[in-house]
Amino acid sequence: MIYSTVLETDRLLLRPPTIGDALRITSLAGDWDVAKTTLNMPHPYEVSMAEDFIQHIADSWDTGEDYTFALYLKTSGDLIGMMGTHPNLRHSRAEIGYWVGKEYWGQGYATEAARRMVRFVFEDLGLNRIEASYFVGNPASRRVMEKAGMTFEGIRRQYMHRVCEAKNYDEYTDTGFCGLLREDWQK
Ligand SMILES: CC(C)(COP(=O)(O)OP(=O)(O)OC[C@H]1O[C@@H](n2cnc3c(N)ncnc32)[C@H](O)[C@@H]1OP(=O)(O)O)[C@@H](O)C(=O)NCCC(=O)NCCS
Repeated sequence: MIYSTVLETDRLLLRPPTIGDALRITSLAGDWDVAKTTLNMPHPYEVSMAEDFIQHIADSWDTGEDYTFALYLKTSGDLIGMMGTHPNLRHSRAEIGYWVGKEYWGQGYATEAARRMVRFVFEDLGLNRIEASYFVGNPASRRVMEKAGMTFEGIRRQYMHRVCEAKNYDEYTDTGFCGLLREDWQK
């Protein structure tokens, strides 16, 4: 897959972030309300972390390990969030993950991007299954998955361990799983 891939939706362009996006990513992802329901987002979030992440994204496109896009509003060009997919070729499936800056929540942006990512996984990567997981205390994320066509598949108790020293946060989190099969998507 080519690193310069651009996906389009009605209101968004999805393309890999560039180093010039580091400050903006730091500002949006630095909000604990955004970070706390993700598994791996560091907090506090430093610019150097965004720069390293952007480099990691470029490397991962090259190896096919991950395909991560930034979400840009078509109207303003503003970066409003990120969404990525991690393929598992052995099992012909891919997991997606995402975040949207808090000031943009509740406007359907994550759903719009997730629907496009579903097409990317099935049409461009040619895989058989797409899946995503969410912390049970994050119903908005489950809703995004379902609106993107995924079916709720169950909950694993205390499945993820989220730790943030700065917030004195250390929890084993019940985790919900959603998935969509190519055969169901094609119907
Ligand atoms: C989860 C997240 C990506 C959603 O982004 P978004 O752009 O606001 O999502 P959308 O607007 O497309 O859809 C959100 C849906 O959740 C619903 N929702 C929001 N809060 C909810 C709540 N507390 N309970 C139930 N549903 C809720 C909204 O009503 C909407 O559904 P609707 O269109 O049927 O009304 C965003 O909240 C976020 O970035 N959170 C922090 C990071 C994160 O949790 N990432 C996902 C990790 S699995």
